[in-house]
Amino acid sequence: MDDNVALETIVTFLEGDLTAGALVAGGMADVGRKTRLAPAEYRRLVGRIGLNWHWVNQVRADDATLARRLADPGRRIHLLVRDGSVAGFFELMLLDREQVELDYIGLTAAMIGRGLGRPLLRAAIAEARLTGARRLLARTCTLDHPAALPLYLDCGFRVAGHQRDRVVPLSQSEKARLLA
Ligand SMILES: CC(C)(COP(=O)(O)OP(=O)(O)OC[C@H]1O[C@@H](n2cnc3c(N)ncnc32)[C@H](O)[C@@H]1OP(=O)(O)O)[C@@H](O)C(=O)NCCC(=O)NCCS
Repeated sequence: MDDNVALETIVTFLEGDLTAGALVAGGMADVGRKTRLAPAEYRRLVGRIGLNWHWVNQVRADDATLARRLADPGRRIHLLVRDGSVAGFFELMLLDREQVELDYIGLTAAMIGRGLGRPLLRAAIAEARLTGARRLLARTCTLDHPAALPLYLDCGFRVAGHQRDRVVPLSQSEKARLLA
C-alpha cells in the first residue's frame, strides 16, 4: 500500500452511565494497578498493540508531548499481564468530575479472540467507576477490530454520534522503528 494514502473511517462515539448500573463492570485478576510509563515505553505499547489498527497519534507524538500526556493526574493506564508478558491494556482519562474517557483498550495480536476482550472492557468500566465520574465516554472507528463496537454495546454503552475521519497509516519506516 502507498504509505501516504489516507484511509477513510467512520468514528462511532459511545457513552454510558456509570451510576445507573447500565454499564457492566467486573474484576480481572491479571489487570494490574495504575502504571507509570516513560514516553518511549508508552509509544511502544500503544504502537505495538495498535499496529494493525492504525493507532497512529501516540506513535507520531514526540517525547515532550507524550510526557505531558503521561504526567496528567487524570490519566490511568492499566496493563493486562499474562505469563509475565503484556497481553493488553486500557487507558482512561478523567476529563472532569463528571466524565471519564476510555482513550484506548486493546489486546496484543496473539491474545485477540480468546475471550479476554469482554473481561478487559468490564475491568476498564470498573476502574472508570472508581473515579467517581458519572459518565464513561468511548469511541471506536471502522478501522478497529470488528468485535469492538458489538462488545461496547453489549456492555451497556449507547451510540452518541458518528463522524467521518481520515487516518494516514504508519509508513514502513515508522513501523520498522516501532518494532526495532
Ligand atoms: C476489541 C478487543 C479488545 C475485543 O477482544 P477480543 O478478544 O477480540 O474479543 P473476545 O474474544 O473477548 O470476544 C468478545 C465478543 O466479541 C465477539 N466477537 C469476536 N469477534 C467478532 C467479530 N469479528 N465481529 C463481531 N463480534 C465479534 C465475540 O463473539 C464475543 O462475544 P461473546 O462473548 O458474546 O461470545 C480486541 O479485538 C482488540 O484488542 N482489538 C484490537 C484493538 C481494538 O480494536 N480495540 C478497540 C478500540 S475501540
